[in-house]
Amino acid sequence: MRLKGKITFITAGAGAGIGQAMARTFAREGAHVVVTDAHKERSNSVAEAIKKEYGVDAMGIKCDVTDPNDVNMAVHQALERFGRIDILINNAGTNRPSQVIDITDKTWELVINTCLSGTFYCCRAVLPSMIKQRYGRIINISSVSGFMGLKGGHAHYAAAKAGVMAFTRCLAMEVAQYYITANTIAPSFIYNKFIPTIYPEEEIDRMFNEIPYPKKGVPEDVANTALFLVSDEGEYITGQTICVTGGSWMR
Ligand SMILES: NC(=O)c1ccc[n+]([C@@H]2O[C@H](COP(=O)([O-])OP(=O)(O)OC[C@H]3O[C@@H](n4cnc5c(N)ncnc54)[C@H](O)[C@@H]3O)[C@@H](O)[C@H]2O)c1
Repeated sequence: MRLKGKITFITAGAGAGIGQAMARTFAREGAHVVVTDAHKERSNSVAEAIKKEYGVDAMGIKCDVTDPNDVNMAVHQALERFGRIDILINNAGTNRPSQVIDITDKTWELVINTCLSGTFYCCRAVLPSMIKQRYGRIINISSVSGFMGLKGGHAHYAAAKAGVMAFTRCLAMEVAQYYITANTIAPSFIYNKFIPTIYPEEEIDRMFNEIPYPKKGVPEDVANTALFLVSDEGEYITGQTICVTGGSWMR
Protein backbone atom coordinates (compact mmCIF):
# COMPACT_ATOMS: atom_id res chain seq x y z
CA MET A 1 0.00 0.00 0.00
CA ARG A 2 1.50 3.29 -1.09
CA LEU A 3 -0.54 5.72 1.04
CA LYS A 4 -1.11 3.75 4.23
CA GLY A 5 -2.62 6.00 6.93
CA LYS A 6 -2.32 9.22 4.91
CA ILE A 7 -5.20 11.65 5.44
CA THR A 8 -6.54 12.93 2.12
CA PHE A 9 -8.97 15.83 1.65
CA ILE A 10 -10.67 15.83 -1.78
CA THR A 11 -12.98 18.50 -3.16
CA ALA A 12 -15.88 17.48 -5.41
CA GLY A 13 -15.10 13.93 -4.43
CA ALA A 14 -18.62 12.65 -4.80
CA GLY A 15 -19.23 13.18 -8.51
CA ALA A 16 -19.07 10.36 -11.01
CA GLY A 17 -15.73 11.53 -12.30
CA ILE A 18 -12.18 12.31 -11.32
CA GLY A 19 -12.80 13.19 -7.65
CA GLN A 20 -14.49 9.92 -6.78
CA ALA A 21 -11.90 7.93 -8.75
CA MET A 22 -9.19 9.61 -6.69
CA ALA A 23 -11.00 8.95 -3.42
CA ARG A 24 -11.30 5.27 -4.33
CA THR A 25 -7.77 4.89 -5.71
CA PHE A 26 -6.24 6.51 -2.63
CA ALA A 27 -8.42 4.44 -0.27
CA ARG A 28 -7.34 1.28 -2.09
CA GLU A 29 -3.77 2.34 -1.30
CA GLY A 30 -4.59 2.67 2.41
CA ALA A 31 -5.36 6.41 2.71
CA HIS A 32 -8.20 7.68 4.91
CA VAL A 33 -10.32 10.01 2.83
CA VAL A 34 -12.34 13.12 3.52
CA VAL A 35 -14.83 13.25 0.66
CA THR A 36 -16.12 16.80 0.34
CA ASP A 37 -18.64 17.99 -2.22
CA ALA A 38 -21.23 20.72 -2.65
CA HIS A 39 -23.74 17.86 -2.57
CA LYS A 40 -24.00 16.75 1.10
CA GLU A 41 -25.84 13.43 0.74
CA ARG A 42 -23.59 12.26 -2.08
CA SER A 43 -20.44 13.05 -0.01
CA ASN A 44 -21.81 10.96 2.84
CA SER A 45 -22.85 8.04 0.67
CA VAL A 46 -19.52 7.92 -1.21
CA ALA A 47 -17.63 8.07 2.12
CA GLU A 48 -19.75 5.22 3.53
CA ALA A 49 -19.23 3.08 0.43
CA ILE A 50 -15.45 3.67 0.58
CA LYS A 51 -15.31 2.63 4.23
CA LYS A 52 -17.06 -0.64 3.44
CA GLU A 53 -15.15 -1.42 0.25
CA TYR A 54 -11.61 -0.55 1.32
CA GLY A 55 -11.63 -0.87 5.13
CA VAL A 56 -10.19 2.62 5.63
CA ASP A 57 -11.73 5.50 7.55
CA ALA A 58 -13.71 7.98 5.47
CA MET A 59 -15.86 10.99 6.18
CA GLY A 60 -18.25 12.97 3.99
CA ILE A 61 -18.49 16.73 4.43
CA LYS A 62 -20.60 19.26 2.56
CA CYS A 63 -18.24 21.89 1.16
CA ASP A 64 -19.00 24.44 -1.53
CA VAL A 65 -15.53 25.59 -2.57
CA THR A 66 -16.82 28.96 -3.74
CA ASP A 67 -17.58 29.86 -0.12
CA PRO A 68 -14.45 30.46 1.99
CA ASN A 69 -16.42 29.95 5.23
CA ASP A 70 -17.64 26.56 4.04
CA VAL A 71 -14.07 25.62 3.13
CA ASN A 72 -12.70 26.72 6.51
CA MET A 73 -15.44 24.79 8.33
CA ALA A 74 -14.81 21.63 6.30
CA VAL A 75 -11.07 21.76 6.93
CA HIS A 76 -11.73 22.39 10.63
CA GLN A 77 -14.03 19.34 10.80
CA ALA A 78 -11.47 17.14 9.02
CA LEU A 79 -8.70 18.28 11.36
CA GLU A 80 -10.88 17.67 14.41
CA ARG A 81 -11.55 14.13 13.26
CA PHE A 82 -8.11 13.12 11.93
CA GLY A 83 -5.69 15.61 13.52
CA ARG A 84 -3.95 16.39 10.24
CA ILE A 85 -4.29 16.55 6.46
CA ASP A 86 -1.44 15.04 4.44
CA ILE A 87 -2.84 15.29 0.93
CA LEU A 88 -5.11 17.94 -0.56
CA ILE A 89 -6.78 17.36 -3.92
CA ASN A 90 -8.44 20.43 -5.42
CA ASN A 91 -10.68 18.78 -7.96
CA ALA A 92 -13.81 20.98 -7.96
CA GLY A 93 -14.50 22.68 -11.25
CA THR A 94 -17.44 23.75 -13.34
CA ASN A 95 -18.08 25.08 -16.80
CA ARG A 96 -20.94 27.00 -18.42
CA PRO A 97 -19.93 27.28 -22.10
CA SER A 98 -20.74 30.68 -23.54
CA GLN A 99 -19.23 33.05 -26.09
CA VAL A 100 -17.35 35.91 -24.43
CA ILE A 101 -19.90 38.53 -25.51
CA ASP A 102 -22.63 36.50 -23.78
CA ILE A 103 -20.88 35.62 -20.50
CA THR A 104 -22.79 37.26 -17.66
CA ASP A 105 -21.06 38.53 -14.52
CA LYS A 106 -22.75 35.73 -12.61
CA THR A 107 -21.48 32.99 -14.94
CA TRP A 108 -17.97 34.47 -14.97
CA GLU A 109 -17.90 34.52 -11.16
CA LEU A 110 -19.27 30.98 -10.86
CA VAL A 111 -16.64 29.48 -13.17
CA ILE A 112 -13.70 31.52 -11.82
CA ASN A 113 -14.73 30.99 -8.20
CA THR A 114 -15.26 27.25 -8.53
CA CYS A 115 -12.13 26.49 -10.56
CA LEU A 116 -9.65 29.08 -9.27
CA SER A 117 -10.77 30.83 -6.06
CA GLY A 118 -11.88 27.49 -4.57
CA THR A 119 -8.39 26.09 -5.12
CA PHE A 120 -6.92 29.10 -3.33
CA TYR A 121 -9.42 28.90 -0.42
CA CYS A 122 -8.67 25.22 0.16
CA CYS A 123 -4.89 25.64 -0.02
CA ARG A 124 -5.04 28.59 2.38
CA ALA A 125 -7.14 26.63 4.86
CA VAL A 126 -5.05 23.44 4.79
CA LEU A 127 -1.54 24.93 4.65
CA PRO A 128 -1.12 25.88 8.34
CA SER A 129 -1.48 22.24 9.40
CA MET A 130 0.80 21.01 6.60
CA ILE A 131 3.45 23.61 7.47
CA LYS A 132 3.25 22.63 11.13
CA GLN A 133 3.85 18.97 10.34
CA ARG A 134 6.52 19.75 7.72
CA TYR A 135 4.80 17.55 5.15
CA GLY A 136 2.13 17.93 2.50
CA ARG A 137 1.14 16.95 -1.02
CA ILE A 138 -1.17 19.22 -3.02
CA ILE A 139 -2.67 18.34 -6.40
CA ASN A 140 -4.69 20.96 -8.26
CA ILE A 141 -6.80 19.80 -11.18
CA SER A 142 -6.60 22.10 -14.17
CA SER A 143 -7.33 21.34 -17.82
CA VAL A 144 -5.27 21.29 -20.97
CA SER A 145 -7.55 24.11 -22.17
CA GLY A 146 -5.53 26.32 -19.80
CA PHE A 147 -2.59 25.88 -22.23
CA MET A 148 -4.20 25.69 -25.62
CA GLY A 149 -7.60 27.39 -25.27
CA LEU A 150 -10.71 25.63 -26.48
CA LYS A 151 -13.27 26.45 -29.13
CA GLY A 152 -16.94 26.62 -28.18
CA GLY A 153 -17.23 29.22 -25.45
CA HIS A 154 -14.68 28.22 -22.84
CA ALA A 155 -12.78 31.51 -22.28
CA HIS A 156 -13.74 31.81 -18.59
CA TYR A 157 -13.01 28.12 -17.92
CA ALA A 158 -9.68 28.14 -19.75
CA ALA A 159 -8.65 31.37 -18.02
CA ALA A 160 -9.45 29.87 -14.60
CA LYS A 161 -7.56 26.68 -15.43
CA ALA A 162 -4.52 28.64 -16.65
CA GLY A 163 -4.73 30.54 -13.36
CA VAL A 164 -4.64 27.24 -11.45
CA MET A 165 -1.33 26.34 -13.15
CA ALA A 166 0.29 29.71 -12.34
CA PHE A 167 -1.06 29.69 -8.79
CA THR A 168 0.35 26.20 -8.23
CA ARG A 169 3.82 27.14 -9.48
CA CYS A 170 3.99 30.12 -7.10
CA LEU A 171 2.61 28.03 -4.24
CA ALA A 172 5.18 25.29 -4.88
CA MET A 173 8.00 27.83 -4.57
CA GLU A 174 6.61 29.18 -1.31
CA VAL A 175 6.06 25.88 0.47
CA ALA A 176 8.92 23.67 -0.74
CA GLN A 177 10.93 24.67 2.35
CA TYR A 178 8.34 22.83 4.47
CA TYR A 179 8.62 19.59 2.45
CA ILE A 180 5.28 20.38 0.83
CA THR A 181 4.89 19.73 -2.90
CA ALA A 182 2.22 21.26 -5.15
CA ASN A 183 1.54 20.07 -8.68
CA THR A 184 -1.14 20.50 -11.31
CA ILE A 185 -2.71 17.80 -13.43
CA ALA A 186 -4.14 18.97 -16.74
CA PRO A 187 -6.45 16.38 -18.31
CA SER A 188 -7.99 16.65 -21.74
CA PHE A 189 -11.34 15.00 -22.43
CA ILE A 190 -12.05 12.39 -19.73
CA TYR A 191 -15.02 10.09 -20.09
CA ASN A 192 -17.44 9.76 -17.17
CA LYS A 193 -21.08 8.75 -16.92
CA PHE A 194 -22.29 12.37 -17.20
CA ILE A 195 -20.56 12.92 -20.53
CA PRO A 196 -23.31 11.21 -22.61
CA THR A 197 -25.89 13.41 -20.88
CA ILE A 198 -24.02 16.53 -22.04
CA TYR A 199 -22.79 15.61 -25.54
CA PRO A 200 -24.41 13.53 -28.29
CA GLU A 201 -22.69 10.17 -28.95
CA GLU A 202 -21.33 11.30 -32.39
CA GLU A 203 -19.75 14.36 -30.80
CA ILE A 204 -18.09 12.21 -28.10
CA ASP A 205 -16.71 9.86 -30.77
CA ARG A 206 -15.46 12.81 -32.81
CA MET A 207 -13.64 14.28 -29.80
CA PHE A 208 -12.00 10.98 -28.87
CA ASN A 209 -11.08 10.23 -32.50
CA GLU A 210 -8.92 13.35 -32.48
CA ILE A 211 -6.84 11.94 -29.59
CA PRO A 212 -3.76 9.98 -30.79
CA TYR A 213 -3.89 7.26 -28.10
CA PRO A 214 -6.75 4.96 -29.14
CA LYS A 215 -8.90 4.71 -26.03
CA LYS A 216 -11.28 6.95 -24.11
CA GLY A 217 -9.46 8.57 -21.16
CA VAL A 218 -11.17 7.66 -17.87
CA PRO A 219 -11.07 9.21 -14.37
CA GLU A 220 -8.71 6.45 -13.18
CA ASP A 221 -6.06 7.70 -15.64
CA VAL A 222 -6.03 10.98 -13.74
CA ALA A 223 -6.25 9.28 -10.33
CA ASN A 224 -3.22 7.09 -11.08
CA THR A 225 -1.17 10.13 -12.08
CA ALA A 226 -2.12 11.83 -8.82
CA LEU A 227 -1.25 8.66 -6.91
CA PHE A 228 2.29 8.74 -8.30
CA LEU A 229 2.72 12.44 -7.53
CA VAL A 230 1.60 12.11 -3.90
CA SER A 231 3.44 8.85 -3.22
CA ASP A 232 7.03 8.65 -1.97
CA GLU A 233 8.19 8.04 -5.57
CA GLY A 234 6.95 11.51 -6.55
CA GLU A 235 8.59 13.36 -3.66
CA TYR A 236 11.01 15.47 -5.72
CA ILE A 237 8.44 16.65 -8.26
CA THR A 238 6.92 20.03 -7.49
CA GLY A 239 5.58 23.06 -9.35
CA GLN A 240 4.86 20.95 -12.45
CA THR A 241 1.85 20.54 -14.68
CA ILE A 242 1.41 16.96 -15.80
CA CYS A 243 -0.82 16.53 -18.84
CA VAL A 244 -3.06 13.46 -19.02
CA THR A 245 -4.25 13.76 -22.59
CA GLY A 246 -3.56 10.60 -24.59
CA GLY A 247 -1.25 12.80 -26.66
CA SER A 248 -3.95 15.27 -27.69
CA TRP A 249 -1.68 18.08 -26.60
CA MET A 250 2.11 17.99 -26.48
CA ARG A 251 4.78 20.53 -25.64
N1 LIG B 1 -14.10 15.41 -17.38
C1 LIG B 1 -13.28 16.03 -18.19
O1 LIG B 1 -13.24 15.80 -19.40
C2 LIG B 1 -12.29 17.03 -17.63
C3 LIG B 1 -11.27 17.51 -18.45
C4 LIG B 1 -10.35 18.42 -17.95
C5 LIG B 1 -10.47 18.87 -16.64
N2 LIG B 1 -11.48 18.40 -15.85
C6 LIG B 1 -11.56 18.90 -14.48
O2 LIG B 1 -11.58 17.81 -13.59
C7 LIG B 1 -12.34 18.12 -12.44
C8 LIG B 1 -13.41 17.08 -12.19
O3 LIG B 1 -14.22 17.01 -13.32
P1 LIG B 1 -15.23 15.81 -13.59
O4 LIG B 1 -15.68 15.96 -14.99
O5 LIG B 1 -14.60 14.54 -13.18
O6 LIG B 1 -16.40 16.20 -12.61
P2 LIG B 1 -17.52 15.29 -11.94
O7 LIG B 1 -18.47 14.94 -12.97
O8 LIG B 1 -16.93 14.26 -11.10
O9 LIG B 1 -18.19 16.19 -10.89
C9 LIG B 1 -18.41 17.36 -10.57
C10 LIG B 1 -18.59 17.35 -9.03
O10 LIG B 1 -18.27 18.67 -8.62
C11 LIG B 1 -19.15 19.02 -7.59
N3 LIG B 1 -19.15 20.47 -7.49
C12 LIG B 1 -19.61 21.35 -8.42
N4 LIG B 1 -19.46 22.62 -7.96
C13 LIG B 1 -18.89 22.52 -6.73
C14 LIG B 1 -18.51 23.46 -5.75
N5 LIG B 1 -18.70 24.78 -5.93
N6 LIG B 1 -17.95 23.02 -4.60
C15 LIG B 1 -17.78 21.69 -4.40
N7 LIG B 1 -18.14 20.74 -5.28
C16 LIG B 1 -18.70 21.16 -6.44
C17 LIG B 1 -20.49 18.42 -8.00
O11 LIG B 1 -21.36 18.26 -6.89
C18 LIG B 1 -20.02 17.06 -8.57
O12 LIG B 1 -20.00 16.07 -7.54
C19 LIG B 1 -12.87 19.54 -12.67
O13 LIG B 1 -12.00 20.48 -12.07
C20 LIG B 1 -12.82 19.67 -14.18
O14 LIG B 1 -12.74 21.01 -14.59
C21 LIG B 1 -12.39 17.49 -16.32
